[in-house]
Amino acid sequence: MSSKHSPRQILVTSALPYANGPIHLGHLLEYIQTDIWVRAQQSFGNQCTYVCADDTHGTAITIKAEAEGISPEQLIARVHQEHKQDFDDFLIRFDNYYSTHSPENQHFASLIYRELRDKGYISTRSVTQAFDPEKQMFLADRYIKGNCPKCKAEDQYGDNCEQCGATYGPLELINPKSTLSGATPIERSSEHYFFKLPAFTQMLKDWTRSGSLQTSVANKISEWLDTELHEWDISRDAPYFGFEIPDAPGKYFYVWLDAPVGYMASFANLCQQRPELNFDQYWRPGHETELYHFIGKDIVNFHTLFWPAMLDGAGFRKPSAVWVHGYVTVNGKKMSKSRGTFIKARTYLEHLNPEYLRYYYAAKLSDGVDDLDLNLKDFEERVNSDLVGKVVNIASRCAGFVQRLNQGQMSAELHAPELWQEFAQAKDGIQALYEKRQFSAAIREIMRLADLANKYVQELAPWSLAKDPSKQQEVVAICSQAINCFRQLMIYLAPVLPKMAQESAAFLNCEALDWSQAGQALLNHRLNPFSSLVQRVDSKAIDAMLAASSDNHQAASPEGQTAKSSKQAAKGKTEKAAKASSDAGGIIQFPDFAKVELRVAEVISASLVEGADKLLCLQLNVGELGQRQVFSGIRSCYQPEQLVGKKVVLVANLAARKMRFGISEGMILASGDDSNIQVLFASPEAKAGERIS
Ligand code: 2FM
Ligand code: ZN
Repeated sequence: MSSKHSPRQILVTSALPYANGPIHLGHLLEYIQTDIWVRAQQSFGNQCTYVCADDTHGTAITIKAEAEGISPEQLIARVHQEHKQDFDDFLIRFDNYYSTHSPENQHFASLIYRELRDKGYISTRSVTQAFDPEKQMFLADRYIKGNCPKCKAEDQYGDNCEQCGATYGPLELINPKSTLSGATPIERSSEHYFFKLPAFTQMLKDWTRSGSLQTSVANKISEWLDTELHEWDISRDAPYFGFEIPDAPGKYFYVWLDAPVGYMASFANLCQQRPELNFDQYWRPGHETELYHFIGKDIVNFHTLFWPAMLDGAGFRKPSAVWVHGYVTVNGKKMSKSRGTFIKARTYLEHLNPEYLRYYYAAKLSDGVDDLDLNLKDFEERVNSDLVGKVVNIASRCAGFVQRLNQGQMSAELHAPELWQEFAQAKDGIQALYEKRQFSAAIREIMRLADLANKYVQELAPWSLAKDPSKQQEVVAICSQAINCFRQLMIYLAPVLPKMAQESAAFLNCEALDWSQAGQALLNHRLNPFSSLVQRVDSKAIDAMLAASSDNHQAASPEGQTAKSSKQAAKGKTEKAAKASSDAGGIIQFPDFAKVELRVAEVISASLVEGADKLLCLQLNVGELGQRQVFSGIRSCYQPEQLVGKKVVLVANLAARKMRFGISEGMILASGDDSNIQVLFASPEAKAGERIS
């Protein structure tokens, strides 16, 4: 608990989102959780600084940029803007939102590396890996696909089989192919750099048991610590979008080495802007400052093993704590594009108020690692019943009487001192719950108070008393009391609902609502006219958000078309295509047709094929599936240059076929005969790689 005389100095981070995709409601759980905690600390009077950044390095970024035909630098600059706008609109108040592709990050990543190297914590040895001879690059397991060596299932990734669960190395796959080029990978060796994590085993055992982790997380980590730790491979070979390792030309830091260093870099960059912040006070040992990382449970090992060991080995302080949360499910299931529950931050914002989600997450968040279900019916009911029905209702029922009967002037005395006591005394308990990240318990306590205030108003029924001219001062006193209760509730809720709190402060004619004002009643104080603070959640807005999130909508619909009509349009077209194929190749049954995976693909280039006068060779960008080469018999009706930049429909799960001219990795949909071939084009707005079903 904070002492009034010496504010705590706290630095807080959330995990850095990858710069290759949009922020979605799963990400937002963490940013909302962290932002609430930070705002609560600031309200308590502590000096609490919140930094974050985009995580910009690694192969996935390069592939995404290539697919879009832009440089990685252009991609990360654009995504930075998009992420920042999403966070601003969800009222996530970072002190700095920076980038791991920054001079500060290169400086600190290199500094940490040199310290570790000079202290003997780096080793090197040769590693044999799959290599793509066409792309001239090493391939991580997820960029290799082939048939499972055990059960022979097709199209399995290079590390494990989704069908039978077998684990293996990528080169054990039958008929392995690079998903980047379609080439067959070969084995190649190169020198790799390793961080000697085992040297830190004892330190990590002590640190993870020192109260820095939730018990369940500490228990999980001790399972790893009790078996042997392995050295950690921190290098990647060129080409790689990242920082070159000092004194190791052609070798780059693995993205997970410089990602957490991004926390430091963002803070260092902030220190440049705010002279009152001192970098060393927060990052070197021996100071009273506190450092907390909020993360999801998928990245625990990076933050509780590698990161503290890197910091310790390089002479920096370790985190005071790492706090782990669970995943978000929507309506009880994993977020899914086909169910329309993979909801982007931007799509949500186009339909619903960000404070609804902040409130709902707060009302369900504990300090544990359990998953949190965003049940959309419950979301609607909870927000309507708590925020509209309980909290704002107090002010909206009472404000008019104070305006009308006393020109907005509140009474000079409290009408219900005992009720007020109850509200004031709750302060420390609620503060402790925020501190411990037990937000759902804090919200329960705040709603208990809201119920008391509503009961008080309901029982005294000022609207009835107001009919009697002799009772008017009593009506003003009751309503003033209720409005004081409302103000108190908004002080307690302000970390969760900052915009509503700000608007309430305007109505209450007060400065911002912070913790120091809790327990102080407004007496003889003039209110401003009340205007509505929150609208009810409209279930139609939720439906519209789900429709806009369905992959059919995102893949095939031109802007402005409804999800339903675009789905029907796509269905009509695929039926036609199926007919074309059944005409040509005999009857197929619907279950077989349903297995066909159709994806939007953008034509990057198209060329004539020497020796094949019916074919064009197309290079396609298929978004997350990378680049594909397809030979298509459409030359009689299309010039190559006509197709470049067009979106076509690709059958994406056909086995690659070796033709005389090269490998064809799929088929694009077209119909007709040689004299009149029609390629089926997807909407120009469709996203490369999106599924069409
Ligand atoms: O898992 C992720 O999304 C990573 N981009 C998180 C990085 S957190 C920190 F270490 F940078
Ligand atoms: Zn298998």
